[in-house]
Order: sequence, then structure tokens, then C-alpha cells
Amino acid sequence: MNDLFLRACRGEPVERPPVWIMRQAGRYLPEYRAVRAEVDFLTLCRTPERVAEVTLQPIDRLGVDAAIVFADILLPLDAMGAGLAFEKGEGPVFERPVRSLADLETLSVPDVDAALGYVFDAIALVRRRLAGRVPLLGFAGSPWTLAAYLVEGGTSKSFGHLLGWSYRDPEGLLALLDILADVTVDYLHGQIAAGAQALQVFDTWGGLLERRRWAELARPSLEKVLGAMAGTVPLIYYGNGTAHLLEELATLPVDVLSVDWRVGLDEVRAIVGEGITLQGNLDPAALHGDPARLPALVRDIVDRARGGGHVMNLGHGILPDTPPENALAFVQAVQAIRY
Ligand code: CP3
Repeated sequence: MNDLFLRACRGEPVERPPVWIMRQAGRYLPEYRAVRAEVDFLTLCRTPERVAEVTLQPIDRLGVDAAIVFADILLPLDAMGAGLAFEKGEGPVFERPVRSLADLETLSVPDVDAALGYVFDAIALVRRRLAGRVPLLGFAGSPWTLAAYLVEGGTSKSFGHLLGWSYRDPEGLLALLDILADVTVDYLHGQIAAGAQALQVFDTWGGLLERRRWAELARPSLEKVLGAMAGTVPLIYYGNGTAHLLEELATLPVDVLSVDWRVGLDEVRAIVGEGITLQGNLDPAALHGDPARLPALVRDIVDRARGGGHVMNLGHGILPDTPPENALAFVQAVQAIRY
């Protein structure tokens, strides 16, 4: 088996950095769009056979060094009774947003095997189909990022409901975050039991808060999740817009710290030290430029990551209109590198 990715996560010696792409299964691939022409997004997520098919698409086309199970960070919120729908052109929408301590009553703490067993079944099926070609990642959203969607009732530009609640009644918001952490721990344990070989926690909105408020509001539930998973499989924390939080992130109990493209990995390394693997962080927009420039861009990131393990990735999810051949050029540029 190609275990380069797992070795790099653990900080073991590798001959080159492994590479995978956040959101590597998705709309930029014509073969994904063909599946979506037949089934809507949530039905796709709930059908293990189709999940296995789209999870393997980027493995077959790009030859990336890791697979990530096709699912969504918002699925557990639907399992908790919030009523998730994906409206055309609007992104996710929740029927029952949670905006106060009283609203917590509308949420249930699900039996994850019953409510999210389709994700576990998909993981087991993907493992069988991969037959050891590359390791399989499971994932979840951070409690803070899940709350951002649940409180707003979908995507938002200003996060007025979430941030308003954080000033009005921080204790109430912390109670919601704690419940989200508990469900996430069960969900991630279920993914490991089904065969996930590493886990990534996505914190898309982790950068919304200044450092002291982040430590008070977002950190406790995040640490509860990460702490509960410590000692299982390699753990990756991905923070978006979190360059101002690096001193905090350096002390999270994770194997891998994944950052967006706005901060250089040399700057990250200087703050977090040598004992941790870094993941990232090519600007997703670079895949819209001249692919002939990708080897130099990739080399620069590899050089900046020196002093510890490195997993190459983009700094955020691949953009939906990326030419697949540029994604392939990126992967091949990384795979041509030798330390
Ligand atoms: O990486 C992969 O290939 C695995 C699949 C995956 C999806 N979502 C599938 C998806 C993963 C890891 C996610 C994570 C996710 N979902 C995040 C965190 C990562 C990030 O980008 O910050 C977030 C914030 C979500 C929530 C979400 N899901 C939104 C806001 C949307 C609508 C906007 C968008 O990006 O399309 C989704 C839908 C979604 N999730 C799609 C896919 C492929 C597009 C659905 C479609 O139309 O086919």
C-alpha cells in the first residue's frame, strides 16, 4: 500500500511529500457532474455505492496519495433534527436554526449508528474498493464551524446571529458547542470503527474571532473533540483565515496543522516548531494560472515547510471551475519532487 500520507502525518521520514486535494471529489470533475445529473446531493451522500464511486474518481484521474470519503460536514446537524436541505444556487439551508438556549430543546443527540450509519457503510465500502491503493480519510466540521451554519441557518457573510449570540449569551452558545462536540466525537469514533485511517477536522470559520475570544468560545469544544480522538489515527486540524491564531493552534493535540494560502508555511513553522506536520497550502486560484508554473510554486511551498513533516494540499477546497488537467499537473509536480 502507498502509505506515504500516513507516514508524513506521523512525521516519519518520506522520500517526497504526499499530496491530496481538499474537495477533490466534486463539481470540477465531469464524471462527478454526470453522477449528480442522476441524483441530488443528499441522496448521493446517503447511497454508499454512489459515495464509493465519486470518492474513487479523483484517485483514478489524479493519482492523489489519499482518499477522503465523500460526505459533508453538515450531515450530523441534519441527524440532530435541524432539517438540512441544499437549495439550487443557495447552498445549505436549515429548516430549524438554533439561536438561543431555548432552541437547544429542538435538537436531539442522535444514535450515530442509526442516523449516520450510511457514512460508516460508505467508509467500509470505500476501504474494500481501495484495496490498499491509498489510505482513507474521514472528517467532520469543528463545533464552531458547525455552529456557524446551524445558528445562521445556512451560509452567511456577516454571521450576525452567531456573533450576536456570542455577546448576548456566551454560556448558551458554549452549551450548544459542547453538544456539537459530543455528537462529533461519536461520529468520528464511528468513522474509525468503519475503517477511516486518518481524520481531518474542517474549521472553515475558525478565523472569525480574535485570539482571546477564540480561546474562550471556540477552543474548548474543539479541544474536547481532538482530545477524545488522540491516540487513535493521525489527526489533522484545518483552519481557514486563522493566521492570527497560530500560537493557539500550535498547542492543539493534533498530528497535522493545515492552514490556508494566506500565510507562508515558513512563518507557520517558525511559530509551531518542528514536532508537527504541516499541510497545505497552494492558493486554489493557482490552478487557474499557467500549469507550467506549478512546479516552481510547489517547490517553494516544500522549501518553506522544512523542519518537519509536510503533506501537500491546497490552502482551501478546489474551486468548482478548475480545469481537471491543472489539478493533475499540480499532483504530478508534487510527485516529481525528491527530498
Ligand atoms: O473533499 C471531498 O472530496 C469530500 C467531500 C466534501 C464535501 N464537503 C462535498 C460537497 C467535504 C470534505 C466537504 C466539507 C465541507 N462542507 C466544508 C468544509 C470545507 C470547506 O470547503 O471549507 C463545508 C464548509 C461544507 C458545507 C457545504 N457543503 C457548503 C457550504 C456547500 C455548498 C457550497 C459548495 O461548496 O458547493 C456544500 C455542498 C457540497 N459539499 C458539495 C460537495 C461536492 C457541492 C454539492 C453539489 O452541488 O454537488
